[in-house]
Amino acid sequence: MTIREFIHRMPKAELHLHIEGSFEPELMFKIANRNGIKLPYRDIDTLKRAYNFNNLQEFLDIYYAGAGVLITEQDFYDLTWAYLQKIHQQNVVHTEIFFDPQTHTERGIAFDTVINGIYNALLDGQKKLGISFVLIMSFLRHLDETSAFKTLQSVLKHKDKIKAVGLDSSEVGNPPSKFKKVFDAARQEGFLTVAHAGEEGPAAYVYEALDLLKVSRIDHGNRSLEDAELVDRLVALQMPLTVCPLSNYKLKVVEDMRTHPLKKMLQLGMKATVNSDDPAYFGGYMNENFMIVTESLDLSKEDLIQLSKNAFEASFINNDLKQKYLSQLDTFQKRNLL
Ligand code: HPA
Ligand code: ZN
Repeated sequence: MTIREFIHRMPKAELHLHIEGSFEPELMFKIANRNGIKLPYRDIDTLKRAYNFNNLQEFLDIYYAGAGVLITEQDFYDLTWAYLQKIHQQNVVHTEIFFDPQTHTERGIAFDTVINGIYNALLDGQKKLGISFVLIMSFLRHLDETSAFKTLQSVLKHKDKIKAVGLDSSEVGNPPSKFKKVFDAARQEGFLTVAHAGEEGPAAYVYEALDLLKVSRIDHGNRSLEDAELVDRLVALQMPLTVCPLSNYKLKVVEDMRTHPLKKMLQLGMKATVNSDDPAYFGGYMNENFMIVTESLDLSKEDLIQLSKNAFEASFINNDLKQKYLSQLDTFQKRNLL
């Protein structure tokens, strides 16, 4: 079996995916037309040519503009359904997706419209495609904590649909400490917590995410490697890192895929996972992310199994389902590797 087939067939879990970042240009134009909104790009090719980023902020500006055409519950449903169909073709059996409510409520879209559209698609994905899911609500860190508190308030009546809260958007200058109180409140309401940290921001932000936000996973975490003491702590905790290789490349977090830190993380015993982040903008879903690191870092099939195992173990699903997936992965390994 070729390595490409091996990656394709291996059962996988995705733990770091922004649903707004799965908005493919074709669907974006279709929904924009349906809503009578004119995108500032002549056509799909012109839009795709704009996907040339020098840093996180340049990407975020385009990502928020794209999300601006989502108006109705059906729009959010279609967006989510398209993502689920895509990952179904890639043998992703479980996904934990972020959505950014403030991106939509700030432009007058009701919180309920957003969550109902996304959630109904996820339920259909479970029923029709067999994909299990966890939904994570992410606060925009470039906005203030008051806005985050308001968002937390709106989610309380949807508590049954959401497992965790996260923190994303412009990292540098917006440290985790800015959101300590709202994360305290979220944990008191029973939510787990995660946070983007150490993508562009320093290792100090990873410490803050651990110590102040009490996260169960670090999203990205690349820059943790700059601090040996932090690495030791992350290894001792077996703290999962949701690493996003193509994202790192496209946002120039790494210069060259051959120097991507993923292999080093595995060698150090860190609990790293592979994820797609914003696949429509960064040129690939799960299989493409696995493929690029495998080729660039010369990963072995054992490494790939380890990465997939890490993801199932780091997922927020109940233990029975977790064991079921881990045993499927074990069977896959025995048939194809041992
Ligand atoms: N980093 C921070 N915020 C984001 C990202 C990311 O990679 N994708 C979508 N929002
Ligand atoms: Zn992200």
